[in-house]
Amino acid sequence: MNNEKIIIANWKMKLSLAETLALAENIKTKFQGFSGATVGVCPNYISILEVKEILKGTDIKLGAQDVFWEGAGAYTGEISADMLVEAGCEYVIIGHSERRKFLMVNYEMIHRETKAVLNNGNLVPIVCIGENWDERKTDRRDFVLFDQLQQALSGLDLVGNQQVVIAYEPIWAIGSGTAIEPSEAEYAHKIIKLTLNDMFGMKIVNNNFKIIYGGSISSKNVKGFVGLENLDGMLVGGASLEADEFYKVAKALVK
Ligand code: PGA
Repeated sequence: MNNEKIIIANWKMKLSLAETLALAENIKTKFQGFSGATVGVCPNYISILEVKEILKGTDIKLGAQDVFWEGAGAYTGEISADMLVEAGCEYVIIGHSERRKFLMVNYEMIHRETKAVLNNGNLVPIVCIGENWDERKTDRRDFVLFDQLQQALSGLDLVGNQQVVIAYEPIWAIGSGTAIEPSEAEYAHKIIKLTLNDMFGMKIVNNNFKIIYGGSISSKNVKGFVGLENLDGMLVGGASLEADEFYKVAKALVK
């Protein structure tokens, strides 16, 4: 796998269709000539096809914010991996903590979704893990990360160069306006890497996995994360809602 950093915008449910398309246009313009990192955007479902048209001819990747584990059938409200690929998606976020919080998504579901995406083979799953404040405060973070990785990925086979992105998102930092200390992120990423090494072996981990950080990253704090040994990129929420700000975050990471 190449060592390029990956920067993914998660627009959540924050923008209308019109706002999403305007932002996609601005990002397209802003990122003209940008190189050195993979950049992707994850709009809401109803915007995906139109964002795809806007991004046509650019290197910016398209992603979705969720996926269902079945391929097709009577599953009202859900969308399958095949459908996302058909719509032009190359990435999909799985198990975001907001879905865990508001929709009772659990790691058994996250496991099924990840498995479905890997079986599809044309999508890169961005699997979200991360401890909450209580777990952090009581020193349970390491176990939580280990446990979430086990539940999400145990028994899954990676074929060839299939990529998997693990997004470490400490729940208490998301949307808080304050990212965690870079040294703390590096420590957590190390735990994640060691756990993955145990599960898949170092060769596969080096070749197929990326570990990215998410949680209140902005152009102001991103510099502290540049050059961390086990950081392969960022999942960016709030700071991706403005093209200029998102560009600054991406630019800082490729320096
Ligand atoms: P944030 O969101 O950057 O607004 O904290 C990140 C995320 O939830 O992926």
